Amino acid sequence: MKTAVSAENKTLSWTLFDQISERYDLNNRILSFGIDRFWRKKVHKFLPVKKNLSLIDLATGTADQILTLAKFHSFEKIIGIDLSENMLALGRKKLEQKQLDDCASLMKASATELPFEDAHFDVATISFGIRNLDDTLKGLKEMKRVLKNDGRALILEFSTPKNALIRAFYLLYLRHILPRIGGFIARNSFAYRYLNQTIETFPSGEAFCQLMREAGFKQAKAHPLTFGVVTIYIGDN
Ligand SMILES: C[S@@+](CC[C@H](N)C(=O)[O-])C[C@H]1O[C@@H](n2cnc3c(N)ncnc32)[C@H](O)[C@@H]1O
Repeated sequence: MKTAVSAENKTLSWTLFDQISERYDLNNRILSFGIDRFWRKKVHKFLPVKKNLSLIDLATGTADQILTLAKFHSFEKIIGIDLSENMLALGRKKLEQKQLDDCASLMKASATELPFEDAHFDVATISFGIRNLDDTLKGLKEMKRVLKNDGRALILEFSTPKNALIRAFYLLYLRHILPRIGGFIARNSFAYRYLNQTIETFPSGEAFCQLMREAGFKQAKAHPLTFGVVTIYIGDN
């Protein structure tokens, strides 16, 4: 399917997710060999030690990160935002099934223009979403803005392994295998070619921590997982 999205111009990247929403969760499980569940679970280890947290999950998609965090922590309030209505509709169904729809709600909004006042949330998360925003720095600044003074941002994103041999295998998988399998399952080869291009060109490790500091976070740390295939970034206000 033709689309106006390129790896350089991500303004309409959410339209790709609208197109592949039905197969998005299935593809995540298959393409990551199920490890995406472990990565999302790891995020809860970095939640602030405080009861009744309020959470905003940016680019929430089908709400998998919210559902995982809610298994480990009871939140006072959870808001998920995304621009893709199709992803949100699937996310709402999943929240209902898990009876989380009392405390968690999903709404259509852009991660680069959050419709919330300053200092509103204890935690802001974004999983596999920051790389899809048209303006990364603006997204990070918005996360910082809506966080309370002692708030924390947790960002889960693909990164590039440092070990040369592992990186070579990873890139082989990313360039040649993932787009074919992902494209076949989602019946949209363009979407999964776009995904691998954005992963390869996105800053990771210290370069990303530097961007977080530029956005105003006093402290930014990177916690690589699975040989650096993904990284959890922790930003403190
Ligand atoms: C790879 S998915 C990640 C979904 C989910 N966080 C997860 O962990 O599975 C990226 C999501 O970013 C959303 N997105 C892209 N640009 C956005 C923007 N400017 N504001 C909010 N969401 C956006 C897409 O619609 C898509 O649901």
